[in-house]
Amino acid sequence: MSFDFFVPCPRGLEAALAAELTEIAARHLDSAPFTAGEQVPGGVHFRGGWAAGMAANLHSRVASRVLLKIAQRPYRTEQDVYALALEQRWEQWFSANETLRVDVTAIKSPLRSLEFATLRVKDAICDRLREVSGARPSIDTGAPDVRVFAFLTATDCTLYLDTSGEPLFKRGWRLDKGAAPLRENLAAGILRLTGWTPGTPLYDPMCGSGTFLAEAAQVALNVAPGVERRFGFEKLKQYDVTAWQALKVAAQDAKRAARASRNADLQIFGSDISGDMLDKARANFERAGFSGLPLKQVDARGMTPPSDTPGILVANPPYGERIEVRGRGPRGELRATGRDERDEGFRRTHADTPDSEFFQSLGDALKQRFTGWHAFILTSDRKLPGQLRLRESAKTPLYNGALECRLFRFDLVAGSVKQKPAS
Ligand SMILES: C[S@@+](CC[C@H](N)C(=O)[O-])C[C@H]1O[C@@H](n2cnc3c(N)ncnc32)[C@H](O)[C@@H]1O
Repeated sequence: MSFDFFVPCPRGLEAALAAELTEIAARHLDSAPFTAGEQVPGGVHFRGGWAAGMAANLHSRVASRVLLKIAQRPYRTEQDVYALALEQRWEQWFSANETLRVDVTAIKSPLRSLEFATLRVKDAICDRLREVSGARPSIDTGAPDVRVFAFLTATDCTLYLDTSGEPLFKRGWRLDKGAAPLRENLAAGILRLTGWTPGTPLYDPMCGSGTFLAEAAQVALNVAPGVERRFGFEKLKQYDVTAWQALKVAAQDAKRAARASRNADLQIFGSDISGDMLDKARANFERAGFSGLPLKQVDARGMTPPSDTPGILVANPPYGERIEVRGRGPRGELRATGRDERDEGFRRTHADTPDSEFFQSLGDALKQRFTGWHAFILTSDRKLPGQLRLRESAKTPLYNGALECRLFRFDLVAGSVKQKPAS
């Protein structure tokens, strides 16, 4: 039996997700592979059996969720939405014993209140279950057993049953978040956009809690991103338990093999000015099963290549809107001491550097010491190339949550580093 799935992702990563889904089908679904279908802003459609939906949940690094399409129909009023939801055989999927959450999102919907539309979908599902079983499910917005999503366009209402549960960027190993961690699926998508492949040196000089590094290590060690977590489909009445056991056991075997291998040789390197952040990164890696990734406490302005062979440098420096760039003083001088940076003494003696000065020094470090590397920097600041005094060779629009960002690419090719005057 085949279903229509919709897989949302951070905007800007649709093509990366489509390529990833096709790879997952080829690698993990020998018997019933599928091809990713239409890409729309914010996600990718595909058609496949339960095993395909479960494999996408378990193996996609870029997806935010995997939604199973239940129904779609033109609508004009809240009553139309209610009627559509009431007609669906929800009792096939879950009982009134399960707790429920409904979310509605809309683009150009003629309805006045999305809250009211949400209420109507919830009422319809509860009414339906009461009609067939005599009981209504309880609502739990925090940790529901079952989530239903309604998506409203100007003309159509689509109902989806969520098969993921917690969003998929929650891999199950992160304890220590740090100040502004990237979502894991955005980091994984960016890694795909850089073209990095295992074995090529990868360096994040502002690694924070280590999201890029952990995602890269999981790719290199062939660890499924969802191997440590549970999924929404496990709460549904009908899913293919045998196919799930086969997928899960294979993923657990791969993880055990990864734990037994030596992680120090992965050519994945990180540094940060904050010793506190590096401690958080180490704790995260430990939980994720990569204990030997080399981390150094260094001001990014004083960074040097961590490997003899050039590779990929990737970073998301502090955004003006979120946290400040740290460190002041002669270029490259290490300012943080390993003390917690919230320490008052640290604050007083190491005031924040103006962004422009920091990025100019960072650009100098890239030009002078990273010949042959390809640097990818994610930022919401479109003036970044001017501040680095480097000309980008590509820029890709990406969304970090609601924040519109660019992934700038700089090719630091010997003798031909394109320089840009400060703007
Ligand atoms: C936006 S966060 C990076 C988050 C990281 N990608 C993650 O997922 O956790 C920016 C990081 O830059 C670090 N940082 C700030 N100034 C720095 C400097 N001068 N040199 C190196 N790292 C610096 C901060 O300590 C912080 O961890």
